[in-house]
Amino acid sequence: MAHRITLIPGDGIGPEVSKAVVDILESTGVGFEWERVEAGAAEFERTGESLSLDVIEACKRNRVTLKGPIGTPIAKGFQSVNVRLRKVLDLYCNFRPVESLPGALTHFGDMDMIIVRENTEGLYAGLEHEVVPGVVESLKIVSERASTRIARWAFEYARTHGRKRVTCVHKANIMKMSDGLFLKCFRNVAVDYPEIHHDEKIVDALCMNLVMNPHQFDMLLLENLYGDIVSDLGAGLVGGLGMVPGANIGDDSALFEAVHGTAPDIAGQNIANPIALLRSGILMLEHLGEPHAAHRVRRALEHVMTRTDVRTRDLGGTASTSEFTAALCSAIQSGAGLD
Ligand code: NAI
Repeated sequence: MAHRITLIPGDGIGPEVSKAVVDILESTGVGFEWERVEAGAAEFERTGESLSLDVIEACKRNRVTLKGPIGTPIAKGFQSVNVRLRKVLDLYCNFRPVESLPGALTHFGDMDMIIVRENTEGLYAGLEHEVVPGVVESLKIVSERASTRIARWAFEYARTHGRKRVTCVHKANIMKMSDGLFLKCFRNVAVDYPEIHHDEKIVDALCMNLVMNPHQFDMLLLENLYGDIVSDLGAGLVGGLGMVPGANIGDDSALFEAVHGTAPDIAGQNIANPIALLRSGILMLEHLGEPHAAHRVRRALEHVMTRTDVRTRDLGGTASTSEFTAALCSAIQSGAGLD
């Protein structure tokens, strides 16, 4: 039976990279039925609405969404489509694997780390107001329910994927109540997973440790703001935002997305690198219960990346998006990279 997926191509290079990813995923032979819907800046220009109820309904109905990057018009007074989707679909877990790939220029090789970020609370609740002229207050929300839920998600992932250690990242030495509660929930949940080592790191020390010796970490668990920042630091360890996947996961829905932006400077030129969205597509295959297809795409990608003639310009090559896509489709079909 075909998997029915909501496809939001997005703005800028979004339609190009999502077409590439759809072609590559279909080359595995897995059946897909794509429900293509529009959201974002171009849709706002066309209809006055950046995220319609129909799009939200499609995401809810199909339960799995693949999304290209979306431009957020600045100073036009509406919330980011990405933030709204996370909220309405209750996608409480932001999942970012930080994995090395041949062909990327990096300081460290063999990276294999998982970042789990709480996606609904913290300072991203967006509760800000002007107390008196010249003084603004921004509220950081931390709840026992959300902190426990994300900690349990991280430990369950560790248990089912053979991970050995979960490190909770915090600043509870200063934010004793809010980060203190996040940490307390982590400790409470850890008790149920005695086989998994758990420890704690203050966020500033973690950043230094990550740039000096990232291999010491296995899984990181962070609240929203620290998770956002450390995720990009993690991306930098393996070649930048153009290389890393992202998934937003809830109990009823999941959304797989490129974490880079719309790259307006190269849009429409068939030179964008589709790897970030493709790796999100690999996570989507795993989520859909297609681990063999996911494995085939992953191995084919690693194999293709050892060649210099199919790299896109951002990786120092000259290949177009469609040349890279064609090379990957044929690598998948020939079983390249499989032992
Ligand atoms: P950007 O990521 O779009 O571009 C930064 C630089 O990286 C540019 O030089 C671009 O050409 C390059 N780049 C990005 N992705 C690439 C790819 N796949 N292949 C080759 N080169 C790539 O960041 P920028 O310029 O700050 O943002 C542009 C727009 O994207 C803004 O409207 C922003 O709001 C939006 N954005 C959307 C995101 C999302 O939907 N997840 C995330 C970040 C930004």
